[in-house]
Amino acid sequence: MSLTSVGSLSGVVIRRANPDDVDGIVAVNIECLPEHYPLRFWLDHIEKYGDAFYVAEAGGRIVGYVMPRVEYGLSKLRTSMRRLGHIVSIAVRRGFRRRGIATALMLASMESLKSEYGVREVYLEVRVSNEPAINLYRKLGFVIVERLHRYYLDGEDAYVMAKEL
Ligand code: ACO
Ligand code: ZN
Repeated sequence: MSLTSVGSLSGVVIRRANPDDVDGIVAVNIECLPEHYPLRFWLDHIEKYGDAFYVAEAGGRIVGYVMPRVEYGLSKLRTSMRRLGHIVSIAVRRGFRRRGIATALMLASMESLKSEYGVREVYLEVRVSNEPAINLYRKLGFVIVERLHRYYLDGEDAYVMAKEL
């Protein structure tokens, strides 16, 4: 697994995740989102899609991550089957928000999904009330393609958002 730095935003390094990062990633996830996963799920994604799984590190601590996977399925944007990049989860620790970290994580992951995994379309689900995240995705060129009724455990709907790479 590469530890190469691919960018930095004033003391924050964006780099590929490796298995040693998993505790820090899970800590950020628990702090930031109600959707949690078993350790094995995180490790599987680092092992299988690690070239597109990025973390943001500041002062030796993980402060953000983006976890993608690669699927084969029906396009959200046209009527065909294709390889799809699925952004499963992204979060940035509160004190580090609004500095462009999520944008940098998404750009790095999408670039790698394209170059390393041959993905030409990326999609994700987001709570309909999650304005910060919806704004982030819109700014990156995602469009809302579908609304999923009661997608989340607490009954909230999701938007599916997608983007051609
Ligand atoms: N209110 C409105 N718009 C916002 C906000 C906000 N609080 N935060 C970000 N945005 C939009 C803005 O357009 C912003 O650009 P600007 O700062 O130039 O106006 C743009 O997103 C990019 O912001 P970044 O600084 O790159 O985003 P940040 O690093 O702050 O992280 C994130 C955004 C990941 C949504 C963060 O708020 C977070 O961790 N939230 C909790 C976890 C979460 O909701 N994750 C997404 C769930 S959906 C999924 O995982 C597929
Ligand atoms: Zn999903």
